[in-house]
Amino acid sequence: MAEKVRIPRHIAIIMDGNGRWAQKRGLPRTAGHAAGAETFRKIATYCKNIGLEHLTVYAFSTENWKRPKEEVDAIMALLEKYLYEAIEKMERDGIRLNIMGDISPLSPKLRELAVSTSYISERIRGFQVNLCLNYGGRDEIVRAARKFAEDYKSGKATELSEEGFANYLYTKGIPDPDLIIRPSGELRLSNFLIWQSAYAELFFTDTLWPDFSEAEIDRAIAAFSKRSRRFGGI
Ligand code: FPP
Repeated sequence: MAEKVRIPRHIAIIMDGNGRWAQKRGLPRTAGHAAGAETFRKIATYCKNIGLEHLTVYAFSTENWKRPKEEVDAIMALLEKYLYEAIEKMERDGIRLNIMGDISPLSPKLRELAVSTSYISERIRGFQVNLCLNYGGRDEIVRAARKFAEDYKSGKATELSEEGFANYLYTKGIPDPDLIIRPSGELRLSNFLIWQSAYAELFFTDTLWPDFSEAEIDRAIAAFSKRSRRFGGI
């Protein structure tokens, strides 16, 4: 990487374009997700090696249930496979894994795997992958508001501040993303980390997620390094 590059603490990625990548090759969309899962593995390793603290990826949104059942099943099967492998290797590789989202509608197997990865993560220090699964930003905020209301009613919480409210979100204790990357040419956040992205720098690229490479992370970080983040100040 070039000199004077500022490595962000936290990068978040919307892994988009798997379907189009497959269609362009005359393959089923599910082949795009399989390729996307491999890209995720490669990029997570790279992010750890360059010294990031957090990588958050959007793997399945609260809206993705609207897709054909075969496609949803294929994504769930890939996640299951990935989590199995993660359980074997995360301690050796020093990668913490945190699942963010409402896992209650997921299969018992996936829920069990999510619990195991969170349990193993307690023993690991350092780089953390946050995997957003059945995650939606509005859903997250509404859940947080409900939990706060319960705590308020029972006297556990007295007043509401921005910092206090953030503790009710899935991202409790995690720094806000410095940089959000969306591949595949779409220019929107699609309900991803909408509270946490208040001051995030955004980076868009036309590359489809399965083609996304380490060099693209370097490009995003180089662009991030050049921006002046003022957080509303001057
Ligand atoms: C968006 O592309 C991608 C998804 C909805 C699923 C992402 C899932 C994976 C990468 C596989 C499992 C993940 C892990 C971490 C093992 P799209 O289908 O919307 O693409 P399109 O816009 O081209 O149709």
